[in-house]
Amino acid sequence: MPAVPSTLELPSSVELGLGQGGLAVARVFAPTGTAEVYLRGAHVSAWTPAGGTPVIWMSEQSEYAPGVPLRGGVPICFPWFAAHPTDATAPSHGFARLADWQLVEAREAGDDVVLVFVLTDTEASRASAWPHRFEARYTVTVGARLTLALEVTNRDTEAVSFEEALHTYLAVADIRQTEVAGLEGTPFTDRLTGPRPAESTPVRFDAETDRIYLNTPATTTVTDASTGRVITVAKQGSASTVVWNPWIDKAAAMADFGDTEYTGMVCVETCNIRDNTITLAPGENHEISASYSVA
Ligand code: BG6
Repeated sequence: MPAVPSTLELPSSVELGLGQGGLAVARVFAPTGTAEVYLRGAHVSAWTPAGGTPVIWMSEQSEYAPGVPLRGGVPICFPWFAAHPTDATAPSHGFARLADWQLVEAREAGDDVVLVFVLTDTEASRASAWPHRFEARYTVTVGARLTLALEVTNRDTEAVSFEEALHTYLAVADIRQTEVAGLEGTPFTDRLTGPRPAESTPVRFDAETDRIYLNTPATTTVTDASTGRVITVAKQGSASTVVWNPWIDKAAAMADFGDTEYTGMVCVETCNIRDNTITLAPGENHEISASYSVA
């Protein structure tokens, strides 16, 4: 089994096995909820609170192959977001979602289960478009809530800057009857058309939607009118939020995204990007976290 120290002891509520494509996956069975996390990318691919329905969306067309990110779940975008600003050959959303993370800790905490994953720089990452020494520690707490906390420490001898995102794909019954509230009053960049003034109503979806909101610590809610389910995304250490649905044409253009699957998902991404890029002095660290709950 790759990327797991041989000394790691697992509680009975955690199983390590092989998932799709033969990739290593940690499966969590807490009394309060279940989850799956692929070690490749420390990628949460499922979370269902006990007695509930799946909250995290995965594409049925996702690839599970080396060098290709999973489509759905919670990709960790780091150390840059979207295309690299100067290196067109660098992977979209950074290298963290393509890297093998180490599972270093698995424990029960009351009725919850906590998994901790670590990624550090390698010769390959130092030869990449972001040549810095770092340690990233990702704590996944599975229960009636799902809490994801990414702490990055600068292990370099100079200041380093990075972007980051917990690029969560949330499951909805019908995107046309879904609204995302909490970002009213915040101007945004529409990645398709440019800067836009703040709106006074929640985001609704009837076309491709790709928005970057900066300078907002706001909690967001995703309300699915067709089922009445409300997902709350509370965040800390995050100043940016991205809302994305590819809609018809972009979904059709993506090989790892089913043509009609766009109706069942929305990304609400907890980020620090663009003007909210993080800069750390040597030895400094920063934590971004998102906590998901359902009503
Ligand atoms: C979103 C971006 O965060 O990620 C979109 O705002 C992008 O523009 C989407 O299409 C998916 O990116 P990728 O690299 O996983 O296809």
